[in-house]
Amino acid sequence: MLLKELSPKIESALNNQVEMEAASSQYYLAMASWAEVEGYNGIAQFLYRHSDEERVHMLKLIKFINERGGHGLVPALKQPTVKFKNINAVFEQVFSHELLVSKEINNLVDMALAEKDYATQTFLQWYVTEQIEEERMARHILDKLKLIGEDKGGLYIFDRDLATLNTADQH
Ligand code: FEO
Repeated sequence: MLLKELSPKIESALNNQVEMEAASSQYYLAMASWAEVEGYNGIAQFLYRHSDEERVHMLKLIKFINERGGHGLVPALKQPTVKFKNINAVFEQVFSHELLVSKEINNLVDMALAEKDYATQTFLQWYVTEQIEEERMARHILDKLKLIGEDKGGLYIFDRDLATLNTADQH
């Protein structure tokens, strides 16, 4: 057992974030699978990559908690939404979910500062930067979908482009 450097409050809040990142990975995995079944292969590839990245976000948190003498806890997860009305509904959900994640990260930063836990605060900066990218990307995709509207040809090209669009971590 390592000397514990995390307060119980910060450890518990970080573990809540572990759960949120794990749930994000599941959400995007469910979206990817739905998109693949519906024939949107490019969108599916993009969402599979996104799901993998959320798992990396979760792992980074678990390792940080453990390195500081805490215990990163693997959470139980509920089944996410597995069916969607259309592609717009998928990306609207991505965007609103990422806004929620950003809010939680900001709350964590506030908490770390209030407790003068500067190591945690510094660690969280990576997530703050990551969330700027994730929100930017989701907004960019929603703008494109708005332009496409009901144009099937546009959606075909959009699907093709998303196969190679970098997810936030790859920028
Ligand atoms: Fe790891 Fe998309 O938040």
